[in-house]
Formats: sequence, C-alpha cells, structure tokens
Amino acid sequence: MKIIIDSEENLAKKAAQRYVKLLRTRPDAILGGATGSTPLGLYAELARLYRAGEISFARARSFNLDEYVGLDGSHDQSYRYFMNHNLFEHIDIDIANTRVPDGINTDIAAAYDKEIEAAGGIDLQLLGIGVDGHIGFNEPGTPGDSLTHVVELTENTREVNSRFFSSLDEVPTHAVTMGIKTVMNARSIILMAIGKSKAEIIAKALKGPVTTEVPASILQLHPFVEVYLDPEAAALL
Ligand code: GLP
Repeated sequence: MKIIIDSEENLAKKAAQRYVKLLRTRPDAILGGATGSTPLGLYAELARLYRAGEISFARARSFNLDEYVGLDGSHDQSYRYFMNHNLFEHIDIDIANTRVPDGINTDIAAAYDKEIEAAGGIDLQLLGIGVDGHIGFNEPGTPGDSLTHVVELTENTREVNSRFFSSLDEVPTHAVTMGIKTVMNARSIILMAIGKSKAEIIAKALKGPVTTEVPASILQLHPFVEVYLDPEAAALL
C-alpha cells in the first residue's frame, strides 16, 4: 500500500496524473467511479486536463460503485446525476460507455459483475470512505466475497448523507453497491480521504486488523492500492 499525504489540491493533481498515465498506455481502460464530496477535486482536475488536451476518455469505459435504490438518473441526488454533472459532461467519454448500478431495476444487480467481467475487468477503481469504514455502500459486516448487491443503509450513513437531501426522510433506505469482492477484483485501486472526520477510520482501515467490521481494511490485502490523504485525514496514522 502506497500512502501519499498532501494538500487537497495537490492530491487531486497527483491522482489525476494516474489517470493520464493509465489512459496514455491504455486508452480503452475500464475506470471504476466513485461519488461523494471527496472525488470532486479530482474530477475537476480531470475536466481541466481534458480541456487542456492532456487526457482523453474517448475510448474509456466506466463502472460506478453504487446507486441509491428508488432514485432514477434524473433525480438530483442520484449517483448517475452526480457523475453526469460532475464528470461525464465535462470530458469526452461516450455516455453510452458509462455504467452506474440501476437503482430502479434492482433484480439485475448481479448482472453488473458479469458486465464488468465481460468488459475485461476494472483497471483503476476510485474509492472514498465512509466514517464507518464503508467503501461503496458496503457497510460494516459485509462479507469479503460479496458481489454487486442491494444493501440496507445504516442509520448513521443515512444521517451523514442527509446533508445532500432536504430532510432525513428523503434519504433512501437502500442502495445497490458493488460488493467487496467486486472492488477487490479491480487491478488497481485509489482510496482518497480528506478532512479530520476521516482520521480515525483511516487509521483503523490502514493500520488496524483486517476485519469485516471495517470494510475498507480489506484493502490491506490488495496488491496495488494507493491511498491519497490530506494531513488531517492522515493525522492518526
Ligand atoms: C457515500 C458513498 C461512498 C463515499 C462516502 C463518503 O456513502 N456511497 O462511496 O465514499 O459517501 O463520502 P464523502 O466523500 O462525501 O465523505
């Protein structure tokens, strides 16, 4: 595990260079996308690099980690909407080559892994981390062999994410998420965390025991993970 500690701005720039490198050597790379506030700086930097002619996603494909159950892509809190507005509309990726788990037809969840496999597998999976250690929406207790599935969100996660909704009642109770195994199948992984609210869970995930109680701790077992932290998130390492 390689740990990079730098300012939020520099982290976005450094992480974006990983994408530049990957897409230069493999223009048809399969990218694993993430939502949340953490990747916003990286996405803005990728859009800037695209405008500057330094990166192209024309032949790339993407698979996002998760989606709320019950929200379709036109809902402004759906993760499809988030990806379109924060990244896809600002780069040259073909929108038909972007996938987000279907929050409406959830019985096709398991097909997502097959689709990823058929595409050749994810080259670079981006991850944020929840304060309880969740990756995607894999809450504590999720088995390590889980594939894409529907999960019930914990009250804590719903409360944390309610800041994006007008009330807690509007936060969906369920989500569909890549499983832990889906994530671990990626050839390489970037985990990003910013701010002091993530310091405790980052220390547990990176230095504590590998346990399903801290879903992100399994990343210790992946052969190619880079962790991008600002000094606040790295404070307890
Ligand atoms: C959500 C997403 C996660 C994300 C987490 C952290 O729960 N499902 O993929 O990592 O939030 O979000 P933030 O980056 O806003 O702290």
